This record gives sequence, C-alpha cells and structure tokens, in this order.
Amino acid sequence: MSHLVDFNDRMLSLGLARVSEAAAIACAGLVGRGDEKAADQAAVNAMRDQLNKLDISGVVVIGEGERDEAPMLFIGEEVGNGSGPAVDIALDPLEGTTLTAKDMPNALTVIAMGPRGSMLHAPDVYMDKLAIGPGYPEGVVTLDMDPATRVSALARAKGCLPSDITVCILERPRHQQMIEEVRGTGAAIRLITDGDVAGVMHCAEPEVTGIDMYMGSGGAPEGVLAAAALKCMGGQILGRLTFRNDEERARAATAGITDLDKIYTREEMVTRDVIFAATGVTDGSLVDGLKREVGWLTTDTLLMRSKTGSVRRMVYRTPRG
Ligand code: FBP
Repeated sequence: MSHLVDFNDRMLSLGLARVSEAAAIACAGLVGRGDEKAADQAAVNAMRDQLNKLDISGVVVIGEGERDEAPMLFIGEEVGNGSGPAVDIALDPLEGTTLTAKDMPNALTVIAMGPRGSMLHAPDVYMDKLAIGPGYPEGVVTLDMDPATRVSALARAKGCLPSDITVCILERPRHQQMIEEVRGTGAAIRLITDGDVAGVMHCAEPEVTGIDMYMGSGGAPEGVLAAAALKCMGGQILGRLTFRNDEERARAATAGITDLDKIYTREEMVTRDVIFAATGVTDGSLVDGLKREVGWLTTDTLLMRSKTGSVRRMVYRTPRG
C-alpha cells in the first residue's frame, strides 16, 4: 500500500508552502477591513482548495473545530487527492483573525503535516504553555515553576540578569498575576493581543525577535501547531490542557485523552518528523505580511522540515487578481 510506505516530506513541503501562500493571498483584500469572519472564511476556502490538490491521504487533526461546528477543515475531514501517503494535518488557515481585521502585526496562515498518528489530537480547550528557544538543557524551565522562578532559571542558563530577559505573554485578564510576577523580576514583557503561535515561534530566534520565553494560556490546537514549528526551528515547549467545565473535559475524552493533568513535551505533541509552513498576512518579526503593489501581490513564507532542520524563506510574487 503506497500510502503506508513513505512520507515524502521533501517534495510535499513545497506543496505545503503553496497551501499557506494560497490562504494568505485570499486574505489580501480583507486586511484592515474590520471583518474577522470574512477574512477567516476566505483563508479556509483557499487553504482547503489548495490542500485538496496535494498527493496525500490526509486527515485534519487540528482544524477549524468539531464536524458539527465547522463545515470545512473540521477535525476528521479527509483532505488531499487521496493518492499519496497517509498524513496528519494540523492547520490554522488564519491565526490572528482580529489581527488581520485590524491590520496588527503577526497574523499568519499556518499548516503542518506529519505521518498519520504523529500529532496530538488536542481538543479545542485552553492550554497552559511555556516555551523557550534552542540551546538550553531540557527542563531548564518547567510549568510547575512559578513565573518568577522561570525567569530566574532562564537568566541563569543564559548567563544574564533577569532584567535582560524578555517574556512574551497574551494580554488577557487571566494573565494579570503572571504579568505582575514576571515584572517583579525586572524582566521585560512583550504583550501581544492575539496570535500565540507566532508568540511561541518568536522564542526560536531571540536574536531576531528579542523574545526569550513565552508563557501563558491560549488555544490547545495552537499549542500543537507551535510545537510543530519548534520541532523544526529548535526550542522547547511544554503544554498542559486546562478545563473550565465538564463539557470541555468531555471534549478531551472524545479526543482520546484520559490523563487530564498531563504535561506534554514538544515530542509528545508532535511525535515524528513534520513539515511546517507559515505565510505572513500582516507584517511580523519572523515573516513579512502581504505586500500589495499596483498589479502585484507578494507573500513571504517560512517553510521548514524537522528531519533536516532546514528553514526556507520563500518570497512569491503573483499578479493581483
Ligand atoms: P483566532 O485567530 O482564532 O482569533 O485566535 C487567536 C488567538 O489569539 C490564538 O493565537 C490564541 O491561542 C487564542 O486566540 C487565545 O484565545 P483567547 O482569545 O480566548 O484568549
């Protein structure tokens, strides 16, 4: 059975870049237009169309929602033309819908692909996340440490003062105490209003982004996407699902999760080699946003393979439709 033999990530990765590019291009007329839903829908449609052209037997494991709430790219949807390897797909056609609607930084289209069974089927609940970049010993910071201890542990490992550390945190009322504790160490905080996949990815290139550590709770599906990115770029991420009610705990059960307190490492969220593509919708520290010029549209895509650690930056210019 051909689809069980090989996950041809080398050639498929180029196709994956087209998928994230297509989703971004579809948003071009919707950046800064105040309509989150329209931008998201355009990205979903374009991502799905392009994904279905790939020679894969894909299943969406991280997607737009459960089958009954998302008509397209729902969890469990089969994608691809069915003629290639059996793969898992994790995607967020538009990560940062509000960022796009308001033309604020770091909105991305994001997709990752790995062999079937390689990605955690994270339910749509929150996840406590903690991430740092490459080059540190495993476990130098943990979710069980309080925020101030995380900062001092990372500063010691980096050989700097806590005041030289910058932490990225989603600006939410639920993070107020965490923000105060981090500020108490003298560390700087880059507050973001949305987009924690980019927030985590920023840790992988601190010399470019100025961010050393990401912490706080955000979507669990975004946590798996961020783990896929860090598996390619290097860096550590830990995640623990959090549940606000029984309905959310039931979602975990449906996803096959029995240990509700488990702390997932990067390797437990993404167990085998993956490929990952992200295209900028709005300008960001890692990729440029869509550039619209008379007659032309330009995209900037980050395309990565964990097997080789290769990182491609692909600038694509296309006539504006
Ligand atoms: P959307 O693109 O779906 O709007 O998600 C953006 C986002 O900021 C994620 O990056 C993050 O994980 C999540 O929302 C945080 O959720 P909440 O807004 O409920 O705090």
